[in-house]
Amino acid sequence: MSEMNLTLKIWRQKNAADKGKMVDYKVNSISEHMSFLEMMDVLNEQLINSGDDPVAFDHDCREGICGSCSMFINGEAHGPVKGTTTCQLHMRSFKDGDTIYIEPFRANAFPVIKDLVVNRSSFDRIQQSGGFISVNTSGNTQDANATAIPKHDADLAMDAAACIGCGACVATCKNSSAMLFVGAKISQYALLPQGQVEAKDRAQNMVAQMDAEGFGNCTNTGACEVECPKGISISNIARMNREYLSGSIIG
Ligand code: SF4
Ligand code: FES
Repeated sequence: MSEMNLTLKIWRQKNAADKGKMVDYKVNSISEHMSFLEMMDVLNEQLINSGDDPVAFDHDCREGICGSCSMFINGEAHGPVKGTTTCQLHMRSFKDGDTIYIEPFRANAFPVIKDLVVNRSSFDRIQQSGGFISVNTSGNTQDANATAIPKHDADLAMDAAACIGCGACVATCKNSSAMLFVGAKISQYALLPQGQVEAKDRAQNMVAQMDAEGFGNCTNTGACEVECPKGISISNIARMNREYLSGSIIG
């Protein structure tokens, strides 16, 4: 088992008002089998043992599901491995003696709370503005399988629903656009009959909230699709635009 000694350059910021700065740390004897977050745990144990403030970072599932472990690692959202969240990234992607730069996701709509933790409640507000469907909960709810759905549509809806709301698309985009996220959230409903009840207003409301939160526009660079850990297709942005247009015509 190979081990490595690393230099970490980490963004430290006490709170939203603090200016923040990069701070250097050393971690030694890091196993190549550790996850990136386990390496961060080792650093934090070191800091706690020496009486220093541990580095604040978000994490929950540690298996690529919750979308909370968002970090910019060596200039890339979620680090150097495609289709991988920070918690799924292993230290074997680095080598002994490396210097690793670790920063929070940066966007005006994602203000830093502390160190690597940003406030992504703007995503929650977008979701609340239209990311839901009307469901009969009377007790006579129809079995989902009773509604036949073309497999192609079901597959595309499932692909869109794979979005974990991590915000890598926003952090990567030079415009801080949230359109890949919003496109995925709209598409997962637009492709299914269950999503049609609110279809007229959904894209209108979610896009309006997205704009109100201060996210930028899409200029088709495709960077979001490249860095998305869940492989969300940019075609979802085109579907969002079609839904928006049809909503404005029908409305
Ligand atoms: S579209 Fe991809 S990068 Fe953007 S929030 Fe969803 S999973 Fe994260
Ligand atoms: S901790 Fe949940 S996706 Fe990484």
